[in-house]
Amino acid sequence: MQGQRIDVVSVKPYPVFLGARLEELGDYLTTRIGAGEHLLVITHPNVGDYYLDTLQKGLGSFMVNTLIVPQGEDEKSLDRLSDLTSEAIACGADRKTVVLALGGGVIGDLAGFFASVFMRGMRYVQIPTTLLAMVDSSIGGKVAVNHAAGKNLLGDFYPPLAVWTDFSTLETLPWEEMLNGLAETIKHAVIADEELLSFIEKHQEEIMARKPELYKELSSRSSAVKVRLVSEDETEQGKRMFLNYGHSFGHALEAEVAYQGITHGQGVSIGMVAAAHLAQERGLMSSGEVERLIKLLKGFGLPVTVRAKNPRVLTDLMGADKKNYKGQKVLVLPKGIGQGIVIRDANDEEILRAWDKVIE
Ligand SMILES: NC(=O)c1ccc[n+]([C@@H]2O[C@H](COP(=O)([O-])OP(=O)(O)OC[C@H]3O[C@@H](n4cnc5c(N)ncnc54)[C@H](O)[C@@H]3O)[C@@H](O)[C@H]2O)c1
Repeated sequence: MQGQRIDVVSVKPYPVFLGARLEELGDYLTTRIGAGEHLLVITHPNVGDYYLDTLQKGLGSFMVNTLIVPQGEDEKSLDRLSDLTSEAIACGADRKTVVLALGGGVIGDLAGFFASVFMRGMRYVQIPTTLLAMVDSSIGGKVAVNHAAGKNLLGDFYPPLAVWTDFSTLETLPWEEMLNGLAETIKHAVIADEELLSFIEKHQEEIMARKPELYKELSSRSSAVKVRLVSEDETEQGKRMFLNYGHSFGHALEAEVAYQGITHGQGVSIGMVAAAHLAQERGLMSSGEVERLIKLLKGFGLPVTVRAKNPRVLTDLMGADKKNYKGQKVLVLPKGIGQGIVIRDANDEEILRAWDKVIE
């Protein structure tokens, strides 16, 4: 295989193959699980149209069934889990079946959670096809479905057999989806890798021109940050929490409009800027560093401010964050560029001031 392999330290260690090819997954699975096993591909209709044939080219020696899940965040649901169970049983799946999750974070989270509970657990491979899934959701073993009471409320830490990343799938990804992944990549750079931030700044135009070579490098570096953080802290007791940078503020913006009319990347972008202002107020960032972040986000067309919002409502919404502890808001702030810090003593007044900086 060409490309790069990074191993994730975990209770069940697994490799992340960066720059793999879809049609070569079959060869890898033959050596890993043996030929002839039953595979269950779970994917979306559009992703399937683009990539199922290529994937299946390499799976000739396996028994393969495909389950198609409609697109959208709403499909990360208990109802869909139940449907997948019926369909899997109808295809003769058992606990030796291996699930192949071909898609973005929705498919990865849903198929991964399904694999974790079907007959008390079967193996699965993450095959991410969005930038966000490549650099973020496919790595780290978090799988989940949503519930009326909240996003990702029912889930598990359930490491995959492997992550198989074919960068060529990015060629068909709409730019808006690419931006969601770029926001997470910038987040990785700010909390853990200043060189990555410099790389993004230097190559911003080529990234926007969607040069494939650039995405290989960008995505590999960003994935490496995620691998490093989850390897040090699989179950999110310490450094893995850095990955929440921009998300406490961002989720409040998304929740306030019931996840309609703002993308995740836009929420994270504004959220990162708000948290950076709070970091500046605490002396953790210079004004130059905050400006550097703002300039980069703006350069990609990501928003850094939001119009006509009530900061009190948004601050209250932050109170529902799963990361909070005993009623205290837990926030991740950047410490300069390239390091993060978790704070557990943020008060609502300074959070309100941070909102004021990003609300027009
Ligand atoms: N498990 C984790 O650690 C983790 C981390 C971050 C986000 N997430 C979850 O990830 C989800 C968001 O993932 P996402 O941003 O990948 O969105 P997504 O999975 O909804 O994919 C976005 C859209 O792009 C389409 N698509 C996917 N690949 C494509 C391709 N190669 N070409 C063309 N279209 C393609 C999909 O069909 C979909 O319509 C959320 O549910 C979020 O909760 C999980």
